Amino acid sequence: MTFKSQYESARTIAGNFDGMMQDLSIALFQAFMSFQKKNGVSGDLIEYGVYRGKSASVLMNNLNDTETMYLIDIADYPELGKLGKISKNFKFIKGKSESLLEEQDFLNDIPQHVRFSHHDASHSYINVASEIDAMAERIAPRGLMVLDDFGNPSYMQVVFAAFAYLARNDVPLEMLLYSSNKAYLCRKEDFEFYSKFLVNDLLTFLNSTELNVYLTRTENHPKYRGFSIAPKVRADQPDRYGEHIYGDRYYVV
Ligand SMILES: C[S@@+](CC[C@H](N)C(=O)[O-])C[C@H]1O[C@@H](n2cnc3c(N)ncnc32)[C@H](O)[C@@H]1O
Repeated sequence: MTFKSQYESARTIAGNFDGMMQDLSIALFQAFMSFQKKNGVSGDLIEYGVYRGKSASVLMNNLNDTETMYLIDIADYPELGKLGKISKNFKFIKGKSESLLEEQDFLNDIPQHVRFSHHDASHSYINVASEIDAMAERIAPRGLMVLDDFGNPSYMQVVFAAFAYLARNDVPLEMLLYSSNKAYLCRKEDFEFYSKFLVNDLLTFLNSTELNVYLTRTENHPKYRGFSIAPKVRADQPDRYGEHIYGDRYYVV
């Protein structure tokens, strides 16, 4: 199945749910899920802030038989009947995530081995910081943590919570990618694994759809070496930003 057909199918499934997820994020979720599957990466999935289930539907459509999706929301918004038609392997836990994360029973219930964790709840500082702290050590090898509303001017505390965590030297995660209002974090030892995918394949996949995006990386420093992907402003814009200046940043061995 081509990436274009995978993306179109993910978009159709997501289209059955109300929500805020942009098409570029649907494409990125699908691309990372397929890449993980191709590389035998396994682990449970978790989402904090489900609303009706739009982003969850994309993730649940990629669940393996041995994996479970954990859905956390403060309200009864999620359309569990509709989500159950995509996969029966899910658990819904109702509550305020930063309060749940103070309960030992909740910490015992949620998975230890997570391949994709999506954080899209209240976006308050304490909400984001608590979720990062609790989930970072649970991100499995080659797993990803995704923070929503990263860089949204109305929620700059998300950026602060993320970088307050990432600036520490003793943490397992680092920034891999910023795109479409979301930050994608990976384990430090997996940065090379994912950056090869970003540089060699991901842009081609995305640009095989109607999305027309470019890759940018203007820094490659041990403290920050992340990539960004954004929609092109002009149709004829190059696929790599400032390659004549930053060309070496795009060659990953
Ligand atoms: C932006 S919506 C989620 C959108 C969904 N991820 C999507 O892409 O379709 C935010 C959700 O977070 C829930 N929420 C808000 N504050 C929360 C909290 N502190 N803990 C858990 N869920 C919360 C809301 O009830 C709402 O359903």
